[in-house]
Amino acid sequence: LGIETSCDETAASVVQENGDGTAKVLSNVISSQIKEHRKFGGIVPEIAARSHVENIDFIIEEALNKSKRKINDLDGIASTTGPGLVVCLHVGYNIGKSIATFSKKTFLPINHLEGHALSPSIENKISFPYLLLLISGGHSQYLIVKGINDYKQIGTTIDDAVGEAFDKTAKILDLGYPGGPNIEKFSKLGNKNSYILPQPIINRAGCNLSLAGLKTDVLRKSKNIKSNQDKYDLAASFQETINKILTKKTEVAMMEFRKKVSDKSTRPFVVAGGVAANETIRKSLKELSKKLKFKPIFPSKEFCGDNAAMIAWAGIQRYKKKLFSKNNETVRSRWPLDK
Ligand code: KG4
Ligand code: ZN
Repeated sequence: LGIETSCDETAASVVQENGDGTAKVLSNVISSQIKEHRKFGGIVPEIAARSHVENIDFIIEEALNKSKRKINDLDGIASTTGPGLVVCLHVGYNIGKSIATFSKKTFLPINHLEGHALSPSIENKISFPYLLLLISGGHSQYLIVKGINDYKQIGTTIDDAVGEAFDKTAKILDLGYPGGPNIEKFSKLGNKNSYILPQPIINRAGCNLSLAGLKTDVLRKSKNIKSNQDKYDLAASFQETINKILTKKTEVAMMEFRKKVSDKSTRPFVVAGGVAANETIRKSLKELSKKLKFKPIFPSKEFCGDNAAMIAWAGIQRYKKKLFSKNNETVRSRWPLDK
């Protein structure tokens, strides 16, 4: 049983391994709080935590019912323990640990980023090492996934996460929350070449990202918007700039991967996190992968955004390798995968 409450999704899932390196997801229940946060244009931690408390027991019950399993059938219970909003993490951690204690099952505290990192093998037979680009509302990282519990971060954002930049830009342009899907939708009505926007640290700092300057420039230019068409043009130009930045930085990350991993064969390149749903970004990264001998993998939408199946799946893999935490950790807002 996996439990996820690190941000604004309350989720529970029962997962069974197939024995061939992939998983059978018996249930994957997700309750999104988008409606509750929409009026604030972003996530309010206290509201998110209260909503987790109100929903988590129903969500776990539904996940068990849908999977046709009882608590006694489980081998272990895995909860996201970080990184994330501490008040939210506590909800999933406490209920997961309580169920495990009373049912005498193994409790596995899981790093949310490890859940994302291992999620592609839920559906695909995939061999290590592979390159992962994780682009969500809270994280933007390039990771070399060498094996279970063996991750090397080669790049990250030095300010805003990619999804955060989409959300903040949508807020500036009054295009609604969450911003990513709306920017993508309204970009279709605009001209992506109408505004020239900055691409901070594009030719330096390896595959690290910086997006705050881009957002500030959108804010500056938004003051001169005179029509809806101007707004759509600015949204389209923003999306195109992010697309160019990610394509360039991914090229750098792929070269770095080759340098660090002495394997010349075609390797998987996994793109996970909510922003991986963006069609423009997908298309560019697929073309780049072809050019640089990587096989692009985009986990399906239900395993791409925040979900509990990936937490259960990371739990299964840790359980099999006997990677148990001695003191069960405690929740943490920051928890890098790369030690
Ligand atoms: O992974 P996720 O569901 O949750 C976490 O943040 O962990 O990612 C949500 C983020 C939001 O910032 C949202 O605006 C962005 O992913 N997003 C998109 C798209 N769909 C979701 N960004 C760009 N284009 C999209 N189509
Ligand atoms: Zn996430």
